[in-house]
Amino acid sequence: MQIQENISLLPHNTFLMDVSARYWAEYGSVEELRDLLRRFADMPNLFIGQGSNLLFTKDYDGIILHSAMARARAVKETRDEVHIEAQSGLVLDQLIEQLCDMNLYGLENLSHIPGETGAAAVQNVGAYGVEAKDAISEVQALDTTTLQPCTLTNAACRFGYRDSVFKHEATGRYVITSVTFRLSKKPVYHLDYGNLRDALPATPSPTDIRNAVIRIRQSKLPEVSQTGSAGSFFKNPVVAEETADKLLSKHPAMPYYKQTDGIKIPAAWLIEQAGCKGMKSGDAEVYEHQPLVIVNRGNATPEDVMTLAQSIQEKVKEFSGIELQREVIYI
Ligand code: EPU
Repeated sequence: MQIQENISLLPHNTFLMDVSARYWAEYGSVEELRDLLRRFADMPNLFIGQGSNLLFTKDYDGIILHSAMARARAVKETRDEVHIEAQSGLVLDQLIEQLCDMNLYGLENLSHIPGETGAAAVQNVGAYGVEAKDAISEVQALDTTTLQPCTLTNAACRFGYRDSVFKHEATGRYVITSVTFRLSKKPVYHLDYGNLRDALPATPSPTDIRNAVIRIRQSKLPEVSQTGSAGSFFKNPVVAEETADKLLSKHPAMPYYKQTDGIKIPAAWLIEQAGCKGMKSGDAEVYEHQPLVIVNRGNATPEDVMTLAQSIQEKVKEFSGIELQREVIYI
């Protein structure tokens, strides 16, 4: 177990915000986690992975906890499937690389997404037509009210678009300790998103798909190791059919996707049409290749990012009447 006091959070958030935390602690086992929860029971706490989907808006006056549990093991195997239990602190992309090497299908479309396994379940990360929930069979957690381990089925996690029970009524109740994924030994393809299929042979391996996804992501999204950002800053809005029809009558070229609960409109399109490409506030800037992303050009402050995000929301509202919701969580 490692506990530090008054530390800079700069290495712990991909937006590269230079703020600090009163305490930082890393636990290597469920017993250590239990210990920390008991020891710091009176203090606000926050569990983070790589800090790749949040914006620290100020110094954090509490304890930030990080899982150093980072192993994966097969827990069940049938003729067609392998179930892999991955601990919360394992970097998601390292897990995916291992699964692709084992020729297992299920998570390859999520290659190169920053973040760790536990947070990926909280956020139900998604890309190229697949969401983490599609492969999650169950989640193991520590119940903070009893300090006992428990298991949540996929249904109990109530996954939605970048959403789960852990972002709502279960906030603070459970700490995810590992996630069990159900992977297929036989090809199960999801290649209909954009031009993913074009770049692939007829019967691609998981690694072929992983490499194609990585190439597409690198061409559109900033590398978090080089440029501060937290990926998509806003969610793609799902609007009523009448709202989409009204916009379509004015903008016939508007892209849209029918969903069970309405019409999804790409936020990137709305932001571009609202004239936000190239917009800046201090060192925070709308990313030129994908306007859904806000980047830190060097010394952006939390205020710079929040000011820019608000200006984008206002411009999009003015242009379309739609209120963009943040995907990035403000702390
Ligand atoms: N578009 C524009 N202008 C642009 C870029 C895109 O108008 O400059 C429009 C185009 O119509 C394009 C559409 O936006 O077809 C969709 O763009 P893209 O395929 O890049 O995906 P996205 O909807 O903007 C979502 C996720 C990404 C994920 C990609 C691929 C959300 C909020 N974002 O972006 O996830 O990688 O699809 O599946 O759902 C993240 O969550 O951090 C993230 C990066």
